[in-house]
Amino acid sequence: MKGSLDILLGLQWGDEGKGKVVDYLAPNYQMVARFQGGPNAGHSLVFNGSKFVLHTIPSGIFRESCINFIGHGVVIDPITLRQEVEAVQKAGVSTQGRLFIARKAHLIIPTHKVLDAASEQAKGRQRVGSTLRGIGPAYMDKTGRNGLRVGDIYSAGFEKKLRALMDKHRLLILSMKYDPPEWPSLDPWLEAVDQLRRMDVVDGEYFIYEKIQEGARILAEGAQGTLLDIDHGTYPYVTSSSTVAAGACLGLGLPPSAVRNVFGVFKAYCTRVGSGPFPTEQTDETGHLLRTKGHEFGATTGRPRRCGWLDLVALRYAIMVNGVNHLMMMKADVLSGLPQVKAAVAYDLEGTRRNDFPFDLTELDVRPIYKEFPGWETICTEGCTFSKEFMDFLAYIERVTRLPVNLVSYGPDRQHTCIRKDVSLVEGSV
Ligand code: GDP
Ligand code: IMO
Ligand code: MG
Repeated sequence: MKGSLDILLGLQWGDEGKGKVVDYLAPNYQMVARFQGGPNAGHSLVFNGSKFVLHTIPSGIFRESCINFIGHGVVIDPITLRQEVEAVQKAGVSTQGRLFIARKAHLIIPTHKVLDAASEQAKGRQRVGSTLRGIGPAYMDKTGRNGLRVGDIYSAGFEKKLRALMDKHRLLILSMKYDPPEWPSLDPWLEAVDQLRRMDVVDGEYFIYEKIQEGARILAEGAQGTLLDIDHGTYPYVTSSSTVAAGACLGLGLPPSAVRNVFGVFKAYCTRVGSGPFPTEQTDETGHLLRTKGHEFGATTGRPRRCGWLDLVALRYAIMVNGVNHLMMMKADVLSGLPQVKAAVAYDLEGTRRNDFPFDLTELDVRPIYKEFPGWETICTEGCTFSKEFMDFLAYIERVTRLPVNLVSYGPDRQHTCIRKDVSLVEGSV
């Protein structure tokens, strides 16, 4: 294989800052590819005084030398995609010949969103806290072998199949005793599909294979995070796709032998949006401070994110299941100015000290065991010279994870990035 695949993914509950790093590293790659998730993702990019939030389009779109590929593991809402394409074009960036979509990617149809809301209502207090973008129902139709794919939009029977699926959904919604405020209109969705027909739709596996054969270096951009993974996350409070490294091969159609590096992105603290266990959550003044300083409000839904200390038990687990070989720390600046910084080094699980991530955190009394670190005023000065206190924090993380933290981000802007080693150029194996 002449080219290679580097995978960049989140090690926590999403919103680690993946979009920022992908945009930063993209000039070192010929292609950026999304492999799972859908418009539940919100990836923020900040540069030249502007901010963009991408939901479906990969975060390499603003880098001229880079093409972008939406793999078949992604579920696509044509309306969101159209809005994004328009926003990118309005910023003077062309998507023509730069944005490719896999024919086998599944479609989110309007009733998927209603089903999402119905399912959340039925769950009551156990609701997942979904973004209500129709993600779960779309993947359910995919695995249930009922779904519609991008390639189907070119066939004469498409609208008939679509209406039949929507009728099925209607019955299901009514049987769940959910009464939607309004049934979504199909017209805007069909208009967006019309636009999708004119986009660069490709046979994904062949497309990406040929790029690799030509020697392309490809960066796979994860959405959500490891702890939201359908298998490895805090089930059932998870999303419906494989957010881990293995998901990149599945969602792009590339073999594991193409993988060169796995970049694990984590915040210097933790956040979670939606329901589910969060052992290091701080509901007091500290949580409030992290939310305010870190602007921790969802990029997709605007919901306040729950905030807490860094969880090294969960981080080590995430590193393990992904085979991470380079770490990237985000939002270290948000901790600046705190007299003291904490990180969970183990759990006290009903009186027993545990270093592993338990099967089910919801029913257990999990108490994090913290290590305290002296705080720092500012994380770094010009030229990425870090303060001693921050270096001590970093060195501890490197010691317990046995991995280098090769990138440190200290602000939302592209420029607020310190490279300790140019990871995208490093030859490595997982
Ligand atoms: P993603 O979903 O992983 O791409 O992350 P989001 O974009 O949802 O959330 C990350 C938020 O933090 C965004 O508002 C970013 O602009 C911002 N951000 C990214 N890196 C940093 C950083 O190092 N420091 C600060 N203060 N903000 C950052
Ligand atoms: P990015 O890519 C943070 C969360 C939701 C909910 C659960 C299931 O921006 O990191 P879903 O809509 O998939 O049914 O929601 O997962 N969630 C995210 N949290 N960042 C995301 O994406 C998320 N995508 C989904 O809040 O708890
Ligand atoms: Mg996000």
